[in-house]
Parts: sequence; C-alpha cells; structure tokens
Amino acid sequence: MGDVHETIHAVASEIDAIFTWDYERSRPALVKLYEKAKSSQWNASTDLDWSIDVDPERVAQELGGGGTMRFQALAQAEGSPVCHFGDKEWARVGVELQNSLLSQFMHGEQGALLCTARIVETVPWIDAKYYAATQVMDEARHVEVFARYLDEKLGYQYRINDNLRAILDDILADARWDIAYLGMQIMVEGLALAAFGMMHMVTTEPLLKKMLRYVMSDEARHVAFGVLSLQEFYKELSAAELRERQEFAFDVARRLQRRFGHAEMWERMGVDPQAVYDTMERVNPPAQQQFQQLLFSKIVPNCKKLGLLDAADGWLRERFAEIGVIQFEDWVDTGEEYAMLDEVAKDRVGAG
Ligand SMILES: [Fe+2]
Ligand SMILES: [Fe+2]
Repeated sequence: MGDVHETIHAVASEIDAIFTWDYERSRPALVKLYEKAKSSQWNASTDLDWSIDVDPERVAQELGGGGTMRFQALAQAEGSPVCHFGDKEWARVGVELQNSLLSQFMHGEQGALLCTARIVETVPWIDAKYYAATQVMDEARHVEVFARYLDEKLGYQYRINDNLRAILDDILADARWDIAYLGMQIMVEGLALAAFGMMHMVTTEPLLKKMLRYVMSDEARHVAFGVLSLQEFYKELSAAELRERQEFAFDVARRLQRRFGHAEMWERMGVDPQAVYDTMERVNPPAQQQFQQLLFSKIVPNCKKLGLLDAADGWLRERFAEIGVIQFEDWVDTGEEYAMLDEVAKDRVGAG
C-alpha cells in the first residue's frame, strides 16, 4: 500500500509495444464498432447542462438499495457498529455514499483511460488499435465528467479505494495483452455498466441522469470491444491458459465486490469498516444480497460469450454457481447490446 496522500502513482511493467504492418481491415465486427464510436462521440462541456442546481441530500435519498438501504438493515443487529445512528446520521451516510460511489467511478475511469492507451500499444490487430484509440477519448471524457460533477455539484472527492487500486495495479503490471482487456473491458467495465445502470434507473437528478446515460452508451461499446476481441483470441488458447484467465477473472470479480464496502466512507463517519463488514456477513440482508448479485449481471453473460464459463472443465461456472450469480448467464451479453444503449445517437436523431 502506498502513501494515501500521494498524487502520483507509478505502476512498473515490461510490455512490448507492437507494430503491425498488416493494415487490412479483416475484422468486420470491430470495423462496425469503430464506425459507431466515431459517430457517437459527445462533448461533456456542451452536451450536458452544468447550470443545473444539485441537492446532494435529495440525490442520496434516491439511491435506495444501491445506497444506504443495505447498510441500514444492519442497525438492529446485535453489536452493530451503526446501532446508534438516527435519521441525521443516515442522511449523512447517504450523501457520503453517493460521493464515495462517484469518486470510485472516477478513479475507475482513469484506470480505463490508462488500460485503453495500453491496448493501443499492445494489441496486434489494426482494427483493434483503431477502435481502442476512440476509447481512449471516451475514457478521458468519463474522467472529466465524474471529476467535474464531484467538484462542482458535490464539493469533494474520495481517494481511490484500496481494493480498486490493487486491481488496477495488477491489470497494468501484467505483460499479457489480453489481460488488460479481460480485467478492464470485461470485469471492471462490466461491473461499472451494471452499477451505472442501477444508479441511472433510480436517480431523478437530471444532470446525473443524462451523464450516466451518455457514459453507459460508451461503456456498452467498450465491453463489446472486449467481448469481440477476446472471443477470437481465446479460441486459440489451451485449457491451461484459459484456466489462468478464469482464475484471474474470478479473483478480480470478488475484489471488485469488496470495493462497494466503502471503507473510506466508514472511516470518515468514524465507524470501523471491518465491524461493518463483519456485521454485514452475519446479517446478510436481502438488499445486500440483491445488490451483490446484480453487480454480476453483465459479467456472467459476457464471460459465457468468451467461452470462459465452460472452458477448463467448467471451473468458472462452478465458482459463479457457488456465489449465486450463475442465473445471469443467459442475460443479454454486451456484444449485442451496444447499439440498443446508444443514447447519444438517439438524441441526435430526436434533435433532427
Ligand atoms: Fe469509461
Ligand atoms: Fe469504458
């Protein structure tokens, strides 16, 4: 763990920057995605209305199950670290939680920015380099909007969560080009897409709602990029190599779940995060179970599409079954969903 006050954080890695002299457009699905990405660019400064006034307490109240609800369920438990909380404290938890969530989204977006720049260098296919370049721009825009919303509308930002930072470090330190894809495009972005979706569904705050809607349009393409690329590459790998990818994917998924424990927020509230987690594990309220499961609603079908569920004797299928998320396997995978989620294109048509 590094210094929590650092503003620069370096991750060392030994990667090969790959040129390809084969400029042939041989991957039509990626060509199509690249065309879509070019026509669905948006401008955070002009496509969003930053003059909208935001009431952080109201926004927080709307978060529901993804917000305070799953923690409020712990209030009555024996030895609960939050048993003394009244309405005032819970209202504050709501506001802090909202801030904490959006801050981690912002840091995750920067992770995506670095990972996609990495993919431009390391992927051996020209169509993938072209596409990844558009994603670098998308991710810069995403960091920009979350940072601006936190600064101008909510007032402050949380530092990066330790679990999330460790995941991003591991992804960026790995020299295998497909691991940046699997870790970022499939796992981190798949989970973010599910979390954005939940927040987008419940919030009525117009700026946040439109911002999430636009970010999700982009993210759906990003996950599709991961699915389309790895689907091809993983056909060539041996069972042993695929098993390594399965283990990596499962490990990342479990650690990602933990980042939604919001350790930094509890510290700020003067509550020991470990005491919250221990109580959570004991009580395991329905709101928490449902939230934890929904986070996997994109990851599981996408892993299936990559062939990762059933490779290596179905190791990953068994793990997902154990943690109760295998039921998502036949939900729509993001390889197809991105056109449906393109709200930017829909708004352009609407505007004539
Ligand atoms: Fe993003
Ligand atoms: Fe993304």
